[in-house]
This record gives sequence, structure tokens and C-alpha cells, in this order.
Amino acid sequence: MKKLYITTAIDYANGKPHIGHAYEKILSDTVARMFRMQGHSVQFMTGLDEHGQKVSQSAEKAGLPEQLHCDSIANDFKDLCEKLGIAYDRYIRTTEPEHKRVVRDCLQKLYDAGEIYKADYTGLYSKTAERFVLEKDKIDGKWPSDFGEVVEISETNYFFKMSKHQQWLIDHIESHPKFIFPEFRTKQVLEFLKEPINDLCISRPKSRLAWGIELPFDGDYVTYVWFDALVNYITGANYFGDDFSDYWPADYHVIGKDIVVPAHAIYWPIMLHALGIEPPKTLLTHGWWLVSGEKMSKSSGNIVDPLDLAEKFGADAFRYYLVREMTIGQDCDISTDRFMARYTSDLANDLGNLVSRLLNMGHRYCNGEIKRVGEVGESEKNIKKLWQSETPKIVDLHNEFSIHLALEKLFSCIKAINGYIEERSPWKLSKSGSASDEQLISTTIATAAECLRIGAILLTPAMPTVGRKILAALGYTGEVNWTTSLQFGDSLVGSKLGDAIILFPKLDE
Ligand code: ME8
Ligand code: MG
Repeated sequence: MKKLYITTAIDYANGKPHIGHAYEKILSDTVARMFRMQGHSVQFMTGLDEHGQKVSQSAEKAGLPEQLHCDSIANDFKDLCEKLGIAYDRYIRTTEPEHKRVVRDCLQKLYDAGEIYKADYTGLYSKTAERFVLEKDKIDGKWPSDFGEVVEISETNYFFKMSKHQQWLIDHIESHPKFIFPEFRTKQVLEFLKEPINDLCISRPKSRLAWGIELPFDGDYVTYVWFDALVNYITGANYFGDDFSDYWPADYHVIGKDIVVPAHAIYWPIMLHALGIEPPKTLLTHGWWLVSGEKMSKSSGNIVDPLDLAEKFGADAFRYYLVREMTIGQDCDISTDRFMARYTSDLANDLGNLVSRLLNMGHRYCNGEIKRVGEVGESEKNIKKLWQSETPKIVDLHNEFSIHLALEKLFSCIKAINGYIEERSPWKLSKSGSASDEQLISTTIATAAECLRIGAILLTPAMPTVGRKILAALGYTGEVNWTTSLQFGDSLVGSKLGDAIILFPKLDE
């Protein structure tokens, strides 16, 4: 059976992980989880891009052989995943033997098919972007800053006949409106394709750079790092296996906007097409986290350490902030003030308070047990109606990748549970001691708990640990999915509440 196959970009093994890396993994993990919730069998892969000049140079700086350097960085990145609750199914490293085998197989196939030729070339080379660039890439007469130093290089290399597939790619993109999300980026790609594209230099002489996968048809060369890195997606789909079609075509390649053109929207589909393999279904492209309006990146040195906030406030709070704050596709300023505002108002005040007060009341007034709902009034009908009408919308917004809006809606429903409890004010009802008021108290608690149960299940993709903690505190032992567990009902009746918990402690500073 076809799995839903989701990948992230594989990170360069040339530095510590930063918020950009953390965000991409959190977003992809949230997407993977929300699809699992809806009954899909998901394969979610992330990993590390270990070859090429940048990695080789950073190993040299660290005074380590490349492989050891990569091993150490792989540990940092896996540790990040662990700490952020990233539930990947496969972690790929481009130095693993299986991947090398796949890259060499692809190269040989393309060579045999006449898609690769050898030629002399003199051109301008960007050391940072690790590719040949053209005068026309200049912006206002200057090289873009992400090109770093640009130098003239003259050498014999192997070239991939990309240009001959240009028209195919244009047709493919035009006939597959879902190929690039958000759709507005499709226009930029088609704009780029209005000019003729060049063939792609896919080799590096070992005399200049030895850290790469050797060309199967010429031992004096290694392959270009992007030609190696992009192939990771099919290695992870078990390229040589009988079950390749269970994974491929990939459903979502989650990537940042800087690597859409040319790598993922031009090179990659053309490479696949030349190999006779279908292109991925969708490039899910996100924007940048900015620091005071500038891209945060290793080359700019304005890195925010993702583990600081996560360690201090919990991985889920950090996950929530990132996916709540960023509209997929747009840039967003990273801000500790914004983080604190979300933490305090949405998490501590709205959600955290709701959970602790509900548990406290359940213990105080109901012996820690959820009772069957008695006669219901307008307040119960309203809150139930709200959750019943908003729940499918929250699911839809996730599926449209408007996750920030889904969470906004979810939290306004959570706020409404607090409003409902205020309306009923069990602490006032408890004063009369009448049987009908007693019953109204247990109805209030049961109704609020049922809303919260649904809320916790909806929250699980973005906040897996918090979602599960809330369900455990409610004594919920039923299924957790978005197909059968979101119905407003009585599945909590008789369940025993856990001790009151503080999910989001108020911290000084
Ligand atoms: O590009 N905000 O690796 P990488 C959001 N190895 N996302 C960001 C970001 C920021 N400030 N900075 C980086 C590479 N990213 C290649 C990918 S895939 C076959 C090879 C994102 O470590 C970036 O857009 O530079 C990319 O998707 C990912 O982090 C890895 O970036
Ligand atoms: Mg980068």
C-alpha cells in the first residue's frame, strides 16, 4: 500500500542546528502526525547532507577528518530531533553506503543514456552556493550575499543535459498546480524557466575537492553535492527495493524557499524525469526565520540556538510558538517577546489554567471522577455546538497547511471552555448544596472535560507531549485519532482524573 512519504531538506553538516533547521523539522513532524491522525500510513524522513566543499571546509576548521566531523554533527542533529519530539521513521546520512550505491547507480544510468557528457568549461563559481553562476545572477550589479566569494574557474567536467528537459518541466509545472505550495511560488519558478536554462555541471575534480561520491565512470571526479543530496529522497524510498512504489512519488518535500530554485524545482524533477522516475507530488516550501529582518543563517552568524528556548520552556511550547507564529511560505521575525506573549497568554493562561482548574474542581466536587452529563442548559448546548462546528474546520485548516490558523481557532475554542466554566461557576453552585446544583457541577465538569479531550486530540500533532499529558490527566484511555475520536460524546464517563498538573509554569524573566 502506498505510504504518505514526507521528507525534510537534509541539513548541511557544517555547523550546529539553528531555529531554521528546528522549524523545518517541527513543521514536517506536525504534518506527519496530522496525517497519521487521519489514518495514513506515513513515512517521515529527515537527515544530514554530508558531502561537498562547505562540509569539507568546516571539518578542516574543526581539525577533524570529514567523516568524524559529520558523525559528531549527526549526533547534534539527532539530539535536536529527540529533544523536540521529532518522530522520524528514517534518518538518512549521505555518507551511508546505501545512499552512495543509489547515487552511483543513477549517475551510471544517466551516463549510459547519454544524458551526461564531458566538456571544458570556464566559468564563474560561487564557493558558498557551490555552483557555477552567471553574470545574470547579479542583483543591481552585485553578487547576492549568499553566493559568498565568486571566482573564475577553468576545468574539464561532466555536464548533465538539463536544458533539453526544460519544456517538459514547464509543461509539468503548468499541469500540476499542486507541485509547489504555496502556489504563488509557482509563478517565480515559471518566471525563471522563461530564460533558457543551462546544462548542469555535476562533477568536481578530486584534485580540487575529494570529499564526495566518486563518479562510477571516472575515478578522477566526485559528483556535485546537490546531485548527491537530492538523491537522498529516493534512497530513503528504498530505491533498489521491490517496495519503491510504496514510497514514491514522495507526497511532500518540506524545504525552505532558498532551495526551491534551482535545486528542488528545476534540478530535481529533471533528474528524476531523465531517470524515468516520477517527480514528487508537492514541494511544501516555507519562508525564513529572520532576526531583525535578516535571514538567520550560519553564514550571517546571527544564529538563535533552538535548544535554549525548548529546554527552558519545554519542547511543546517551542513547537507551538513556531507553527502558530509562521504562515507557511512567509517569513517571520523570531522574537523572544512574541514567544513570551504566546507562552503566557495562550499556553499558561488559557490552556494551562483550564487544565489545572478543571482537575482541581473534579477532585474537589466530583471525587475525581467524570460523571454522566445530566440535564443540559443553553450553556452546555452552546459550548458543545461550538466544538462540533469548529472541529472539522480545524482539521481542514491543517490539511490546507494553514496550521497557524488551525491553532488560532483551536485556542479560541479552548478559551471558550474557560468562558463556559465561568458561566457555570461551580464554586458558586457548590454553596447551595442542592441536589440539582450538585448535578449541574458534575455536568459542567463532564462537559468541559469532553471539550478538552477533543482539544487535546486536535493539539497532538503540534504538541504531542502536552496533548498526551492532558488526555492522561483526564483519565482518557480511548483511541487518539482524527477519524473516530473527535466526536463529542461520553467516552470520558467513569474515568478517573489524574492529579492536578502545571503544564506551563510561570518562569521569572
Ligand atoms: O540547504 N529559516 O542545508 P541547510 C527557515 N543541505 N528555514 C531555514 C533557515 C531560516 N533562517 N535557514 C535554513 C541545505 N533553513 C541543503 C539541503 S536538500 C536535498 C539539501 C532551512 O542546512 C533551509 O531552507 O543550509 C533548508 O530547507 C534547511 O533549513 C536546511 O538548510
Ligand atoms: Mg542554507
